[in-house]
Amino acid sequence: MTSLSEIYDDACIKLEGRLSQYRYLHSLSVSDVAVMMAQDFAVDPMYARVAGLLHDWDKCYSDEELIERALAFKIDLADDPQILAPLLHAQTGAVAVAREYPDLPQEIVQAVARHTSAALDMTKLDMIIYVADLVEPLRTGPNIQYYRSLADNSTLEELFCKCYQSTLYHLIRRRRYLHPDSVKIWNVYGADPAPRQRGG
Ligand SMILES: [Fe+2]
Ligand SMILES: [Fe+2]
Repeated sequence: MTSLSEIYDDACIKLEGRLSQYRYLHSLSVSDVAVMMAQDFAVDPMYARVAGLLHDWDKCYSDEELIERALAFKIDLADDPQILAPLLHAQTGAVAVAREYPDLPQEIVQAVARHTSAALDMTKLDMIIYVADLVEPLRTGPNIQYYRSLADNSTLEELFCKCYQSTLYHLIRRRRYLHPDSVKIWNVYGADPAPRQRGG
């Protein structure tokens, strides 16, 4: 049985060879942020550490290669693979890390798979990796300070909701593709459950 700490050490070496320098440092940074969040939100920090490190395992492939991998892995695609390509590294990466590390807990594999498009039944670990991927300090972008300002006073679900909301805004503003499950996920995590007051 390979321990999570052995997997972490081995994956560091392999990822340094697989990923660009930026992407490798981003993976380490997501891992560090995920550990801090895990401590705040009562999740096993070692699970967060390894899931954060592994989340972009397949980010080294082109869109065409990812489509080929998705087909080879028999991943059930929800839409045209060409349109889904920017999201596919999460799903192919999850299959790949499970093959690379057979002792990897399923919870970690799932968190890797869900870090781009999320899911209707996000676990705490899934949310931590989703959020950590967006707020890690090497990221630059208009929303990064906003995300970080939320981190101190929010529940994990609120943090996830804010990040998911911002991702949707960003995608819609740029007229980018939305995963078919996005509206369902938004209605579960983001939509205000209180019915709106209607005027007279
Ligand atoms: Fe990613
Ligand atoms: Fe990432």
